[in-house]
Amino acid sequence: MDKVKLGIIGLGRLGRKHAENIHYKIQNAELRAICSVVDEELETVGREMGPKYRTKDFMEIIENDDLDAVVIASSSQAHCRMLCAASEAGRKKIYVEKPLGMTMDEIDRIKAAVLANRGMLLQVGYNRRFDQSVLAAKKKLETGFIGKPIQVRMINRDPAAMAEFIIKFSPSSGGLVMDMLTHDYDCARWFVGSEAKSVYGLGDAYVYEGLRAVNDIDNCNILVEFENGVIGQFETSRNCSYGYHVETEVYGSDGCIRIGTVPVKDRVTYMNTDGVCRQCVEWFFEYWEPTFCAEMQHFVDCVSEGKEPLVGLEDGYRAVQWACAATKAVRERKVVPVG
Ligand SMILES: NC(=O)c1ccc[n+]([C@@H]2O[C@H](COP(=O)([O-])OP(=O)(O)OC[C@H]3O[C@@H](n4cnc5c(N)ncnc54)[C@H](O)[C@@H]3O)[C@@H](O)[C@H]2O)c1
Repeated sequence: MDKVKLGIIGLGRLGRKHAENIHYKIQNAELRAICSVVDEELETVGREMGPKYRTKDFMEIIENDDLDAVVIASSSQAHCRMLCAASEAGRKKIYVEKPLGMTMDEIDRIKAAVLANRGMLLQVGYNRRFDQSVLAAKKKLETGFIGKPIQVRMINRDPAAMAEFIIKFSPSSGGLVMDMLTHDYDCARWFVGSEAKSVYGLGDAYVYEGLRAVNDIDNCNILVEFENGVIGQFETSRNCSYGYHVETEVYGSDGCIRIGTVPVKDRVTYMNTDGVCRQCVEWFFEYWEPTFCAEMQHFVDCVSEGKEPLVGLEDGYRAVQWACAATKAVRERKVVPVG
């Protein structure tokens, strides 16, 4: 079977992970071209994985006919420019990291460009949908196990240990709601099978003045009303003292389903005179590790078999549309309609 030849734009935290998965783990893919504006990343990945093409100019990836598909894992601020350029150049197979864009104007432009490029296959990087526990919960929900879904509750806490990095990363990320909560929203929307109708939220920079200085926040709690009546509650923090904690609950008329109630690192329990202790997950890469490979494998299989990806344009669009409304709701402390 011919391998799917991939070019990747962005070799930072996540781009490097995708490049490794494509090169080392995905049997039916080849890492054929790499692009980064950072010399050191190009040099390291180039030396280690030996792709045929290396460039600092993303248009050279987009216009390279020797590639079957392109992976965009650049900073979120560059997604719109790159996706529009790829669509206008007639590129048919694209994977793009979340969020799809950063503003309503950007996602409207992206949507128009993608739809104008007829037959384009687009996957958006909401990796949670490829997690085995999330998939098992979704399957169970579909059997009617919890009866009528009433509430969906998400907790998403980044470790305080990463504060310095988060403050540096914030200005290019779109902020707490856009960067972090769109994962929770995408998953909740998928679970309850409905679109958000309105959103209200409270949040502030309670701990990090560095985030306030760049107009970002470190904690918030958001309430969502879905069109089918389900209540969503999304609680997020950037200063979790004990590690990385993601938890989900879908509650209904006949029961509930929970994922990740206690964020344990492994199956080891330590006992001594201080009591009983278990280690906590440290960071998102550790918790979601298998999902990054699974989502890229899915993309490669979709390209190879001409299938529609599980997470596409509409999902990416809805998540950003919701995040724009939620950001406004938190800033202005009022109920904001979505869409
Ligand atoms: N799914 C997840 O859990 C998850 C986790 C982390 C990051 N992300 C997303 O991945 C994307 C990248 O995040 P990151 O943390 O890897 O960022 P990063 O800052 O570590 O890396 C950014 C990369 O983009 C490249 N880049 C930026 N502008 C470019 C340009 N004009 N031309 C070519 N390359 C360019 C840089 O060279 C660099 O390699 C973001 O959209 C982020 O939201 C997703």
